[in-house]
Amino acid sequence: MTRRPVILTVSGGPRGDGCSAELLRRFTEKLHAVFTHYDAYRERFAPCTDCRFCRRHEGCAMHDMDGFYADFEAADGIVIASPVYNMSFPAPMKAILDRMQRYYSARFFLGKRPPIAKRRPVALLLSAGSPDEDGAMIEKQLGKIFTVTNCELLCRVTVNNTDNGGSIGTAEGSIAQEAAYFAALTGAITNSSQNF
Ligand SMILES: Cc1cc2nc3c(=O)[nH]c(=O)nc-3n(C[C@H](O)[C@H](O)[C@H](O)COP(=O)(O)O)c2cc1C
Repeated sequence: MTRRPVILTVSGGPRGDGCSAELLRRFTEKLHAVFTHYDAYRERFAPCTDCRFCRRHEGCAMHDMDGFYADFEAADGIVIASPVYNMSFPAPMKAILDRMQRYYSARFFLGKRPPIAKRRPVALLLSAGSPDEDGAMIEKQLGKIFTVTNCELLCRVTVNNTDNGGSIGTAEGSIAQEAAYFAALTGAITNSSQNF
């Protein structure tokens, strides 16, 4: 029997019945995988304090994210679902991104190349109130982190205009398309996604 891929999912929004939460549900239901889920608002990981421990040691001085780091490193693929807040991620999600600094330090201060050996695809699922928010700023932020964590942003779905009638229904086609591509990248093929 082939091993099911392990997918790390992270939800960045506070609303369990929100659009980004629904996007994550619809995307992951198309994957045949083992999921490890983190909810940024529930976890409330501490923000990076730039204590510079990670410039001298591999890892982080704070231990609240030890489990997250282990799951992040072990994952075969990563799915991030979040609302856009002020062109960026909500604060608890941004804290997670900043805590990835340990991998930047591992690469550039400790000479680990690469800090994480396995290359992984990432899917980014966004909901945005504005009709023309394209997530460009968020993608730029992630790009910086992904270069030191061996990740590549390969799938994107954005639901726009949610503050003025925009709904997830308009994204059904792109959810199916991007999930099928992500499934192929991670080996998380379901019976239905094999039909694409
Ligand atoms: C604090 C805050 C800041 C926001 N900033 C933006 C923004 O910069 N651009 C945008 O398109 N929508 C913005 N929005 C709207 C949310 O992105 C939108 O309502 C989103 O669909 C909510 O996702 P959810 O249903 O998953 O909670 C903001 C909402 C809040 C509460």
